Amino acid sequence: MSDINIAVVPVAGMGTRLLPATKSQPKEMLPVGRKPVVQYVVDELSRVGVTQLLFITGSGKTSIENHFDLNLELTQSLREDGKEELLSELAFERAPLQYFYTRQRRLLGLGHAVLQSESFVGNQPFIVALGDSIIGMHAESKIVEKMKQCYQDNKAVAVIAFEEVPEDEVSQYGIAKPKKNTGQEIFEIEDLIEKPSVQESPSNLAVAARYVLSPSVFEALRKTKPGAGDEIQLTDAIRIMMQNGGKVYGVRLSRGEKRYDIGNFGSYFRAFTEFALADEKFGPELREYVKEIIDVDSSK
Ligand code: UTP
Repeated sequence: MSDINIAVVPVAGMGTRLLPATKSQPKEMLPVGRKPVVQYVVDELSRVGVTQLLFITGSGKTSIENHFDLNLELTQSLREDGKEELLSELAFERAPLQYFYTRQRRLLGLGHAVLQSESFVGNQPFIVALGDSIIGMHAESKIVEKMKQCYQDNKAVAVIAFEEVPEDEVSQYGIAKPKKNTGQEIFEIEDLIEKPSVQESPSNLAVAARYVLSPSVFEALRKTKPGAGDEIQLTDAIRIMMQNGGKVYGVRLSRGEKRYDIGNFGSYFRAFTEFALADEKFGPELREYVKEIIDVDSSK
C-alpha cells in the first residue's frame, strides 16, 4: 500500500471556551511559547511525511492561511537588515507541503468538518489532526507514524490516538473500550463511549486528537445522526464502521507524548507555562521568576 500522506486539519470551531481571546482571532493561532498552536500541528505532520494538507476553516480564520503563506515583504526586510536569526524563524514557510483550504459553512460538529474533505481526499486513507492540540513537547511526537503502520498492518478502518487520563476526568472525553485490557501500546477497540460517568467508564483511555481513517468514514459520516451537543460526532461515525465489521485500533501516547489541548483556559495556561519554561533562551530566567513569585505568594 502506498504511504498515507494526506492530512485534514479541522480548525473551523468557534473556540467559545476561550472567549474573549478568540473573539476576533482563531484559537488555533494563540501562541504556546513562541509559535501559534497550529504551527506545531503542521510541523508534526510535516515530520511524518504529510505532503498535502487540507484545513477545514470557517469565517474569521484567514490569519491561518496568511501564516502558512510566504511573506516576501517581511523576508526581504529582514534580509536587508541582516537579521538572519529572525529569518530562520520563518523557515517553516518553505516546508515541502502544499496547503489547501475549504470552509465548513455551518458548524455542525467535528464529524461534519471531516465530511467537507471528501472530494479532496477521494478514495484513500488519510490523517485527521485537530488544529487545537499539540502532541508532545515541541510537537516531536511520532505517534502518527505508528498509527499509519498500525492501519496498514491490521487492515483497520480507523486508528485513533489515546491518552491515559486521571479517572475523575473520563467524563470529559471519548473513552475506548479495548477488546482485551492488556495495557499494550497498540490494541483493538470494541467500542467508544462518549463522555461516560466514572462508574460506567470502560477504561481511562481518552481519544487524543489524531486519527488515521479509511475513506469509508465518509459513508459512515453521511449516516451519522447528530449526537452529543447536537453535533455530528466523528466517534459516532467510527462506531458505525465498527458495527459494519471494520477493525478499529488504538495507539497509546507514551509518557513523553503528552497531549496539550488548547480548548480551554486551564489546559491552555498549563501548555503555555510548560513550553515557556522549556524555552532555550528565556526558560531558565522564567523558572527563577516563577519560583520567586510563588515564594512571595506563599509567605503572605
Ligand atoms: P472543539 O469542540 O474543541 O472546538 O473541537 P470548538 O467548537 O471551537 O470549541 P468551543 O466549545 O466552542 O470552545 C475540536 C476541533 O474540531 C474543530 C475545532 O476547530 C477544533 O480544532 N471543529 C469543531 C470544527 O472544525 N468544526 C466543528 O463544527 C467543530
